[in-house]
Amino acid sequence: MKKIEIIIRPEKLDTLKKILAKNDYGGLTVMSAMGCGHQKGFDKPEFQELGLEANLLPKLYVMTVVWDEDLEEIITEIVEKLSTGNVGDGKIFISDIEDVVRIRTGERGEKTL
Ligand SMILES: Nc1ncnc2c1ncn2[C@@H]1O[C@H](COP(=O)(O)OP(=O)(O)OP(=O)(O)O)[C@@H](O)[C@H]1O
Ligand SMILES: [Mg+2]
Repeated sequence: MKKIEIIIRPEKLDTLKKILAKNDYGGLTVMSAMGCGHQKGFDKPEFQELGLEANLLPKLYVMTVVWDEDLEEIITEIVEKLSTGNVGDGKIFISDIEDVVRIRTGERGEKTL
């Protein structure tokens, strides 16, 4: 299983939800976030060069755990549908998940996704 943490422009949530829904997972977690990337939250190079404190911009943080075999298709579709070509489109972090426990029943493993 893979955890994908996706940081997106807030207005892209519906598009992302549709991509994930199509891939048959019920579960996802969404949090409001503030963040910056390479440009430190300034889209103009003259501001970046001033060495100002980072300017945090509103983003959404979406976390979902998926089966290994679906990962690449999901990533490809996210990049295809969420890229505007402008800085600040967001980022995807991918990591391994060792196990999952459904609290209601104590069941474990990827069938609980
Ligand atoms: N290295 C990082 N660690 C943690 N969060 C990050 C990192 N890079 C980006 N983020 C998060 O992703 C959001 C969007 O980042 P952003 O798309 O600006 O990345 P970037 O590397 O600057 O790419 P681009 O050049 O396309 O803007 C940030 O506001 C921040 O919340
Ligand atoms: Mg950026």
